[in-house]
Amino acid sequence: MLNDTQLLEAAQRFGTPLYVYDAAELDAALAGVRAAFTDTRIFYAMKANPNLSLLRRFCSAGVGFECVSAGELARAVKAGASGEHILVNGPAKSDEEYAEGGRLGATFIVDRGEEVALLPPSSRALVRVNPALNVSTHDHLATGAGSSKFGVPLSEVPAVLDALKAAGHTARGLHVHIGSAIRDAGDFAAAFAKLSELRPSVGELEVLDVGGGWSLDADLHGIAGQARQAAEVFGAQLWAEPGRYLVAGAGVLLSTVVGSKQTGRNFVLLDAGMTELIRPMLYGAVQPIRALWQGDQTKPYDLAGPACESGDVLAHDVPLPTPQRGGVLALLEAGAYGAAMSSNYLSRPRPAEVLWDGAWQVIRHRESPEAIWAAEL
Ligand code: LLP
Repeated sequence: MLNDTQLLEAAQRFGTPLYVYDAAELDAALAGVRAAFTDTRIFYAMKANPNLSLLRRFCSAGVGFECVSAGELARAVKAGASGEHILVNGPAKSDEEYAEGGRLGATFIVDRGEEVALLPPSSRALVRVNPALNVSTHDHLATGAGSSKFGVPLSEVPAVLDALKAAGHTARGLHVHIGSAIRDAGDFAAAFAKLSELRPSVGELEVLDVGGGWSLDADLHGIAGQARQAAEVFGAQLWAEPGRYLVAGAGVLLSTVVGSKQTGRNFVLLDAGMTELIRPMLYGAVQPIRALWQGDQTKPYDLAGPACESGDVLAHDVPLPTPQRGGVLALLEAGAYGAAMSSNYLSRPRPAEVLWDGAWQVIRHRESPEAIWAAEL
């Protein structure tokens, strides 16, 4: 974890809002995944953080990519991945995505039976199973419920596998992903148990892909153990698709205090908000916070951003030392779905991103106004 001096140096050198990543933490997260998920092929779900520098780092460590758009496929190729290391996923793939996935020889994750006829000839595919389970995470982050838009109902899975084979595709196996930021290993165990029910009707499989969704504090060894058991049921090789777990802990969003204000609430006003980090507003996410200025702890503050929206509050009731204009605040565990979900709303430039790897490396420049309007006529 980067120390306060390093974070302050980054804020001063590169300005804020700024995303800062620690290479050692990235490597440690991958090592942790590999220690738990032995004999498993890892496909990084790049939606969590698609910065090319991070992708190249993962690619050269032998990690593949789970992609859900033509843009993500292009990034996978740019980062150096070959088709064998690319998954094409998504509930509503475009013609372009089928064509590009086919050209690359990637493996498709089939999300509904209709897709069998849409795949390029002789495709390789997994069938995503909807295990019809409610899991313990925010509703917007749950993908395994029977009412969700994802996957094929358990009872229809054997027919989709048969249809793939009949159409000349290679049905490699099954896929399941029940949601994101899940703490309870029991949720994963329940999903894998549902999948295992399919063994009599589908026989042996080449691959069981158990998706991602692990919260930073989830019991990874427990989840991996359950996954391995499920893979053994099918005689299958285990694949996994972590996003958050690989990058969240390595990233910090740095923001500068612009001022403070008392209304019915005590506000600290920051130079970052919903345009830089939307997870608190979308999912009620709570990011750990560290003030990098000194002072006695006074009272709890709401951390408001610069947007002209009342919902632009990054955190509520955070005890802070008396706010100082120019003080730097660190929002921790921001490496996943932070920069990735930042926007140009209000013509705000997306933040710069820097990586500490023994020295500072700028891995994304702060956008200029010209870059924001470059595609407009
Ligand atoms: N595999 C599939 C099929 C997925 O849909 C996802 C995430 C992952 C893997 C990776 O999940 P992870 O390990 O990162 O939880 N924007 C939300 C998260 C949305 C995740 C969507 N799918 C957030 O900020 O929490």
